[in-house]
Parts: sequence; structure tokens; C-alpha cells
Amino acid sequence: MNTSASKIASLPQASEIDFAQQLKAFHAGQTKRKKVLFVTPEYTGLIKAGGLGDVAAALPRALAEHNDVRILIPAYREILQHHFPIKIIARLEGLAKIPACKIAQLQLEDDGPLIYLLICPELFDRAGSPYSTPEGTDWEDNHIRFARLGLAAADIALGKGHLGWRPDIVHAHDWPSGLTPAYMALRNQPTPCLFTIHNLAFQGLFAPSAMPDIGLPARVFNSEEMEFFGKLSFLKAGLVYSNSITTVSETYAREITRAEFGCGLHGLLQQKFEQGLLYGITNGIDDSWEPSTDPYLISGFSAREWEAKRANTRHVERQLNLAVNDEAPLFAVVSRIAPQKGIDLTLGIADTLIHAGGRLAVMGTGDHALENALVKLAKRYPEQVGVHIGFNEIEARRLFAGSDFLLMPSRFEPCGLSQMYAQSFGSLPIANCTGGLADTIEDGVNGFLFHEPNLASYKAAIKRAFNVYAHPDLLNAMRCHAMNSPQYWRESARPYQHLYQQVLRKRPMNFFKGGLSQCR
Ligand code: ADP
Ligand code: GLC
Repeated sequence: MNTSASKIASLPQASEIDFAQQLKAFHAGQTKRKKVLFVTPEYTGLIKAGGLGDVAAALPRALAEHNDVRILIPAYREILQHHFPIKIIARLEGLAKIPACKIAQLQLEDDGPLIYLLICPELFDRAGSPYSTPEGTDWEDNHIRFARLGLAAADIALGKGHLGWRPDIVHAHDWPSGLTPAYMALRNQPTPCLFTIHNLAFQGLFAPSAMPDIGLPARVFNSEEMEFFGKLSFLKAGLVYSNSITTVSETYAREITRAEFGCGLHGLLQQKFEQGLLYGITNGIDDSWEPSTDPYLISGFSAREWEAKRANTRHVERQLNLAVNDEAPLFAVVSRIAPQKGIDLTLGIADTLIHAGGRLAVMGTGDHALENALVKLAKRYPEQVGVHIGFNEIEARRLFAGSDFLLMPSRFEPCGLSQMYAQSFGSLPIANCTGGLADTIEDGVNGFLFHEPNLASYKAAIKRAFNVYAHPDLLNAMRCHAMNSPQYWRESARPYQHLYQQVLRKRPMNFFKGGLSQCR
């Protein structure tokens, strides 16, 4: 048995897939339009806390040609407040302390996927984020809230509620959807379930006393199933009971089989890998991240239209009261303010960055202590540092477009979308070489990578960025490379399409040129 992470075979990426063969199969009628139920706690356009929302909204559209993908998401207050035209189409029973719920149908756009809203006001009609109170504390009944989601998905897969639609495959995302395959397995439901890990660090851990409340039998509370160091783990349930597991980049797929990144689940993930059940599929970006057509930019631009790009810089300067100074490169942070994102490291290099002649613009929300430290920094350097504590998708776009560099010193990063959005908008990411950052940034070509998440390594990368900024030809060449770098979902979604086919056929992947790819 080879336990070396370097031997991880991940799903071939889009470029490796033999599409001619796929097309032939399609025309021969071997590939039917599959019905896929996406189970997700976020969906950009309805509710977004981070990149999962973007993926949950963009991937179904990219898969739509060959699949009828429908979305199941809780009807949080933020969604209900829009008063979208919805139609109640089903009622689903409760279980133990999980209340009954309704399913409403919503179609946001004519050509968009159909959305099933899980209506259960006592669980979801509250102020706050999908996961926490307005003060940032996790909801105490999160086990019931997200068990409700998993149970509804399992019920729909089973044909309960008579929606007139039953999925051929269920695709669940992150711990809030983790009980989906568990409830399916407990009912001997044969529909295959794919589980995607967007972030292993969020596990949905609860006291074992939560089990009877959500109708889980005590027998599944063991280390082979749902128990994780004395707690009930929704994430582990997702990993154990699903038919296949993906994560959102190839490098992260390898990393999570090691103790350093595995958050205590590396043994299980290594085992899944050895069974050929763990794949890394790097996220893409959606078409809205095309800077020449983005209606939210102050000025749209293409490669080499740097003056138009600058109009966005002027806007950011005005918004954040920064000095107007084209000699001073503008470094941006657009991020959850969390230890994962290395915000403390950015605080640690800020003096150096400012004294070297740079400016810093931050947009983010999260950890209060780090937020306060950022605000203090802005007070110390009023013209050089601007901080906006909050979540604003439009201003985030303008910041990507208006900045020269994006700082992303993440300690770990399952994929990361911000670095790709920045690249697309001609802002060069400076990032720690981990997870999806390692897969999407080519050092010195379309961004900068450093190899240790510490101040010395980070500072050295920033110094290289200043050097490039001082050489406009080089800077513009890198910008052009960056703007052409990110893969759009229409390419990136193809490995999912293949995985669906594989899971349905329940046979090993053999549809690719050269077979399974062996990673570095
Ligand atoms: P994660 O999901 O771990 O937060 P990603 O890079 O995958 O990281 O995705 C983050 C997404 O959230 C990006 O679309 C980014 O633009 C967005 N984002 C993060 N913070 C903010 C903010 N304060 N305002 C607006 N958008 C934000
Ligand atoms: C998670 C990860 C991030 C990833 C996103 C979308 O929030 O932290 O790296 O890009 O999910 O998959």
C-alpha cells in the first residue's frame, strides 16, 4: 500500500478529457440528461458568505447542457425578504425534533436552474448569516437546522413530497449538507451521492446528545461512521456515506490526506483516496468576471486598457480616502477576516509595505479582534491604508479591478476564488503556495507565490512585487498573463460531468486520455 500523498491520482482536469469520445457517446444516446440535486447552504444571488455560494450558483449553470440540475437551499430570512414569486409544491414530514417543512419552487432566471427553497420559518427565518447570529455566534440549533436540510434532500431523492422530479444523483456541499448521504444510507436509498469538501476546517461538530434529536440511531455513533473524537460530525457523515468525494483543487486533495492539513480526518481521506474515491477538481470562475463586460465596474477594460483600469483605482481611492498616487502600488485584501486567510500576517507586513511606498485597501468582515487591528492600522496611516469592514459584492469587484496586487497569505486554501477574480481583473495575487493558490498561480508569471506562511517569506514576495511594479513592461506583461489565466466554469465543470457518469455507472474512471492522472 502506497500511502504517499504525492501518489494521489485526482480526476483529470478539463484539458485532459477526451471530448471527441464524450461527444460520440452523447450522440450515440449513451449519455442521457441526468437529474442532479445540488444541496447547499449558500447560493450567490440568494445568499453568499464566501466562495461556496459562487460555486453553488455557477457550477449548475455550467453543467446545464447535459444535466437538469436543481438546487435545494434553506429559505433564510435574507432570501424571503426579496419576496420572490414562489410556489409551494410539497410538504415534507419532520423527524424527532426536526420540524416538518415545505418546499417552494423558484426560478430566478429563465435559463437558470430551478431552485427548491426549504421553507421552515422556525429554523431559518432569522436575522444573521446562514450559520450564525448577527453577533457571529453559531446558532445553538445548527444540528437541527442542517439536519433539516439533509433530511429534505434525502426525502426528495426518495420521491417523498411528490415533487414530480427525482434526482439520478445527489451532490451535497460541505458540512451543512453532510447528513444528506447519511439519511439516504440509513433508508437504503440507492441514489448515488457525491460530496464536495469546500473547507475541511468547518466540520459541523455537535454533542452526541444531538443524535436522538435528529433521528440518528446510536449505532452510527462509532469511529467508522459519524463519531469524531467524542463528537457527532456532519462532515464525517458526508465523507463516510457518500459514493465519491471531491474537493475544490488538486493540491488540496493531496494536502488533506496529510496530518498537517487533514483536520484530524486525514486517515479517512487517505483511505478514500486509496479506494479511488477522492478527487480534486479545481474551481473555475463564472462569466461575470470578464472585466470588459462587468456592469458594476466604474470602467470596464480589456488587457492593455490600463487607463480604463485606473478609473477603478480612482474610485477605490475616493471610497477609502486614500491618497491619489500612481507611483504607489495599491495592494488589496478582499477576504473573510479569519485566521485561515493569514490576515495577521498582512498586519505583520503592513509597516514594511507602507514604508516601501505601497498603499493598502482592505474589504472584509469576520473576526472582531483582527477587524479592530485593521481599523487601527488605517488610523495610523490615513492616506495609505483604507479599511472597509463589511461585505459588499459590488465594491469588492471594483477593488479587484482597481488594485495592482491582491494579498492572499492563506495558511491553507482549499481553492480560493479571490485570486482568480483578481487575475481576471489584472490584479496580481501574492499568495502562500498552498491548496488552490498553488494550482492557479504561476510564480512570476501571473502572480507571486511564497513558500512559508511567515513574515520573512511574505515580505520577500512583496519585495518582488515592488520590483515588478517599477518595470511597467514587466508589470503589464504579467497583468496580461493573469487576465488570461483563470479557467471559466464551462471548462472547469467537465470533470464533474465525468464524475457523475462514473458514479452512475459505478465503475472506475477510464474515459480519459492516459487514464487517471498522477499528480506531482
Ligand atoms: P472563502 O470561500 O474561503 O471565503 P474564496 O476566495 O473562495 O474564499 O471566496 C471568497 C468570495 O467571497 C469571493 O467571491 C470574494 O470576492 C468574496 N468576499 C470575501 N469577502 C468579501 C467582502 N467583504 N465583500 C464582498 N465579497 C467578499
Ligand atoms: C471554501 C474555501 C475556498 C474555496 C471555496 C469555494 O470557502 O475556503 O478556498 O474557494 O470554498 O469552493
